[in-house]
Amino acid sequence: MTNKTSNTMWGGRFAAGPDAIMEAINASIGFDQRMAAQDIAGSRAHAAMLAATGILTDTDAEAIREGLLTVLSEIEGGSFQFSTALEDIHMNVESRLKEIIGEPAGRLHTGRSRNDQVATDFKLWVRDQFDAAEAGLLALIQALLGQAEAGADWVMPGFTHLQVAQPVTWGHHMMAYVEMFGRDLSRVRDARVRMNESPLGAAALAGTSFPIDRHMTAEALGFDRPSANSLDAVSDRDFALDFLGVASISAMHLSRFAEELVIWSSAQFRFVALSDRFSTGSSIMPQKKNPDAAELIRAKIGRIYGANTGLMMVMKGLPLTYSKDMQEDKEQVFDAADSWMLAMAAMEGMVKDMTANRESLAVSAASGFSTATDLADWLVRVLGMPFRDAHHVTGTLVGMAETKGCDLPDLTLEDMKSVHKHITSEVFDVLGVQNSVNSRMSYGGTAPAQVRIQVQRWKDILK
Ligand code: ARG
Repeated sequence: MTNKTSNTMWGGRFAAGPDAIMEAINASIGFDQRMAAQDIAGSRAHAAMLAATGILTDTDAEAIREGLLTVLSEIEGGSFQFSTALEDIHMNVESRLKEIIGEPAGRLHTGRSRNDQVATDFKLWVRDQFDAAEAGLLALIQALLGQAEAGADWVMPGFTHLQVAQPVTWGHHMMAYVEMFGRDLSRVRDARVRMNESPLGAAALAGTSFPIDRHMTAEALGFDRPSANSLDAVSDRDFALDFLGVASISAMHLSRFAEELVIWSSAQFRFVALSDRFSTGSSIMPQKKNPDAAELIRAKIGRIYGANTGLMMVMKGLPLTYSKDMQEDKEQVFDAADSWMLAMAAMEGMVKDMTANRESLAVSAASGFSTATDLADWLVRVLGMPFRDAHHVTGTLVGMAETKGCDLPDLTLEDMKSVHKHITSEVFDVLGVQNSVNSRMSYGGTAPAQVRIQVQRWKDILK
């Protein structure tokens, strides 16, 4: 039993205060204090609206406004004493406001509930994260464009099944990620448009009998409009799930790129050198330079996708409208947002700093019979063979090179003619990797000229 007195905010009907365990499971202040600025912005908009509609006197509204600014500066300055007994950020702020301005503080909650308040605060917080994600993606795309432009004509192997497939260009590979992060950017932007409706004024769930102006508060908080259904407004967390969904897909892209950097920076590949600024050493093996940043980026998807699944599970099966379950929405989103922003920034830094090893890339591009398709295409184009036959002839020549322990360009013309007598020495032109990539001029292909067109297209898009 506790001899604590009941809660001053809602304890009218309670004879006793909560058990310590009840307080511990109930309180969200340990994490929702991250929404302090949003909470105070929401309260300021609400108070200004209450005055404009004549629900509050201008004197009270002014006292509230001043008091909220003081509370904000106390929180920002670190002197604010957060209290678990006051449960959450909403009641911590209001309680402190009461200490500072007295009676008018109690009028702030007119026509409002913590249900629309928390939905508003959280939406404002998530909206800021969409904006931060947009900035992070743009910076990362710029870094990739820099690499693509510098290396538009550097040859490297292109892979399928992680087996050498055809030569491609470094710029083309970088631009593949520009497309991926570009889609993330578009997902961020359309999710932000969809979520930008204000829950404030939905009150507990049914709206309010006070003559509030929801359009006014929506506008003051940068929302496009008030949400149209009060029940939905307090029980909707789609915006957080949209955020986690977009973050999950983007983290998946980041993890794929991170994995390539881990492979590429190994002694076996030596495709790239990561900078010292984004690598670490080993405490026992002096030669080591480890791609830890890439590995951690590769791993962040686990937490982000976990948050996505976690919040889905919290929300599934909840009856309308607000249930306390929904307090479990925030920590996962906070953690996922932090992880995503950090992963994007680390990737941007690595991409800016990394150096492609052009020589290794070129040597590797020519290995593994990477121009076999070019040879088959030549047989079709010059000798008029059906592609299936050309495929077979080329396969025979690959087998011959493999037996001899050499690459396709190392076969002699006699070797070639022994398989198909009409092959001429011109065939050797298409067996070079540079010619191979130059020839892939189809739209979106790997030819340096095509890569430069795509770099320019993205520069125009981002202007
Ligand atoms: N701390 C709560 C949350 O994060 C605020 C809303 C509480 N509302 C209520 N009626 N108990 O969800």
